[in-house]
Amino acid sequence: AKVPILPGVPSDVWRYTAERVAGPNETLTPVGESYAGPLIRLHRGQRVRVRIDNGLLEDTTVHWHGLHVPPNVDGQPRLPIEPGTSTTVAFDVVDRAGLYWYHPHPHGPDGGRVGPQSYAGLAGPLIISDDTERALGLPDGERELVLILQDRTFTDDNALQYIGSDMGAMMTRMRGFRGEQVLVNGHPDARREVSTQSYRLRLLNGSNSRIYKLAWSGGRAVTVIGTDGGLLAEPERRRSVTLAPAQRVDLWVDFGDTEPGDSVQLVSEAYQLEMMGGREMMGGGGMMGRGMMGDMMGSERLTLVTFDIVARVNDSRALPERLAEDLPTSPVQADTPVRRFELGMRMMQGFTINGRRMEGATVADDEIVRLGETEIWEFVNNTMMPHPMHVHGLQFQVQERISAGDRTDLHDGIIDAGLHDTVLVFPEERVRIALTFKSFEGLYMYHCHNMEHEDAGMMRYYKVV
Ligand code: C2O
Ligand code: CU
Ligand code: CU
Repeated sequence: AKVPILPGVPSDVWRYTAERVAGPNETLTPVGESYAGPLIRLHRGQRVRVRIDNGLLEDTTVHWHGLHVPPNVDGQPRLPIEPGTSTTVAFDVVDRAGLYWYHPHPHGPDGGRVGPQSYAGLAGPLIISDDTERALGLPDGERELVLILQDRTFTDDNALQYIGSDMGAMMTRMRGFRGEQVLVNGHPDARREVSTQSYRLRLLNGSNSRIYKLAWSGGRAVTVIGTDGGLLAEPERRRSVTLAPAQRVDLWVDFGDTEPGDSVQLVSEAYQLEMMGGREMMGGGGMMGRGMMGDMMGSERLTLVTFDIVARVNDSRALPERLAEDLPTSPVQADTPVRRFELGMRMMQGFTINGRRMEGATVADDEIVRLGETEIWEFVNNTMMPHPMHVHGLQFQVQERISAGDRTDLHDGIIDAGLHDTVLVFPEERVRIALTFKSFEGLYMYHCHNMEHEDAGMMRYYKVV
């Protein structure tokens, strides 16, 4: 569909359009005037049916990122929806209240198309609510903002420009695509008018590869109330918060200390590269390693959203210090099996997991797990780049982060508490997660959510038996 040509606003995009056939009014709401897919609101316990029509000229799928759904409705590449055809999926909403999302997941013999399809506009937010969360009385209505962060590069006529075929293309594919501008819900230079009250900001990093380091101008602490899998047990206050591709974060902010006329900015800070220069990390890479890492993490400071305070409204509601009592935990014991996944990089092959790349819907012997069991997965990053590792079909807990050298600057913004479906693993680092394979047998996926990495094959199936 065509969107009017405004500076920085894409003129030609692919979009999800949706229509509610039955169910509550709030099921579908547009995300501003943008290419972003509509906000889907579901309630825990609800049964959902979605008919998906593929109006593209190529295969696609719709993956419900973060949701615990049966394998055959998970939008995996082995179940492509061909151009001009439709499919209907149905599932029960069993996950905790939280911000999830949906995006395409096609992968053919020539590689994946997640990067280009999402980049062209196919991605949208999905919020699950439940009664426990509602009882907390967190800011809602106009005081609940869904913010999708994506970076884009434009041609002169405002068309979106993805990876070209120039000399830099190989490097970009390896590092992941990074756009010149950050769009929030499809718009550059995002601004929101707010009052002197508290707000709930629900952020999704829908970028192909950019990692954000969220902070407030003026130095107020970033208050985190939730992660990928919903609310934390209690709020965490940080100077900055790292948000890798596919991750979500739920922030609470109180503008009660501002005056009408003020503005406050949500920014992405630059990483202090000097602090990442440990000898261990450089390996044989030397300056190359440092440059690559700096480049990956983003060495520029970016303004994401400017909040203009336009009205004084007294708000006496404080943030509860206990948020969630219902955080499910995977029962880890001394004899819980540990499965190791080495993230590697091979000449000519690109990125690998245990030396393997995506090979269709096949699993190796060490990619089979048992229904109902809890395991610890250890991602070992032997490359020079960070990889946001994602596991389908469940939410996991981060158990341990083991790294060489001083990682103060890198780890400062990492929220490991709570439930996650995507965890950022830095170079020269091992991260252990605890996961339980709950109710469905069959194939799921695990992969790097740097979209260029997954499209290049840094992605595998695992099987629950
Ligand atoms: Cu967000 Cu396998 O995906
Ligand atoms: Cu997913
Ligand atoms: Cu990666």
